[in-house]
Amino acid sequence: MQEASTRSIYNVWAHFYDHTMGRGVQRRQQLAIDRMNIRPGERILDVGIGTGLSLDLYPQHCKVTGIDISEGMLAKAAKRIEQYGYKFANLSVADALNLPFSDASFDHVFVTHVITVVSDPVRLIDEMRRVCKVGGKIVIVNHFLSGNRFAAALEKLLRPICEKIGWRSDLSLEYLIEKTGLPVDYRYKLDSVDVWETVFATNDGPKQPCIAA
Ligand SMILES: C[S@@+](CC[C@H](N)C(=O)[O-])C[C@H]1O[C@@H](n2cnc3c(N)ncnc32)[C@H](O)[C@@H]1O
Repeated sequence: MQEASTRSIYNVWAHFYDHTMGRGVQRRQQLAIDRMNIRPGERILDVGIGTGLSLDLYPQHCKVTGIDISEGMLAKAAKRIEQYGYKFANLSVADALNLPFSDASFDHVFVTHVITVVSDPVRLIDEMRRVCKVGGKIVIVNHFLSGNRFAAALEKLLRPICEKIGWRSDLSLEYLIEKTGLPVDYRYKLDSVDVWETVFATNDGPKQPCIAA
């Protein structure tokens, strides 16, 4: 996936995203946000916030910054903020792979259904760790490559088709953890047969560069 084509694809998705994906997306987001135990005044970065479905679910005592590369998706989120008077939220167009925030700007970082959309998921994790305070939560909701080898073979086969509609189907969570060293606390699925997974990690700071002996 390239960011320029992603932006075009999601500018189109913006017109029907909520009607097709809305209910399932919010179901997964709701439990994750509840489990984040967000305290009054805490700052949350919502990476790739899209149409802002998550905004209906945050406690209004926090401060949410939503960024997205697609102006079309963000326009829907802005409409939602205006319609419901969500004073706790602000939005900006930005690339998640180069977040325009200084280190440790946020208490927690939330990213739903985005890791398999960006061109470089490892860099995305690195960026989220950089802008999140040490000890803050990094919470990821996404589809990952199945542990079942038949399902995984199908997901690999489907990758070219999935890429045309804006995401890849064959990203393995184990690969991501190995490459980033993200310290995962726990992970869960909402149902026993579920292709989406939620991952909770506690940020231990930006990844340290390897120093040759
Ligand atoms: C499948 S949607 C998910 C939207 C929202 N998080 C949700 O769960 O409903 C993926 C979103 O990621 C955004 N996105 C993809 N690549 C991005 C990037 N490099 N930087 C910022 N946003 C990006 C897309 O524009 C789109 O809004």
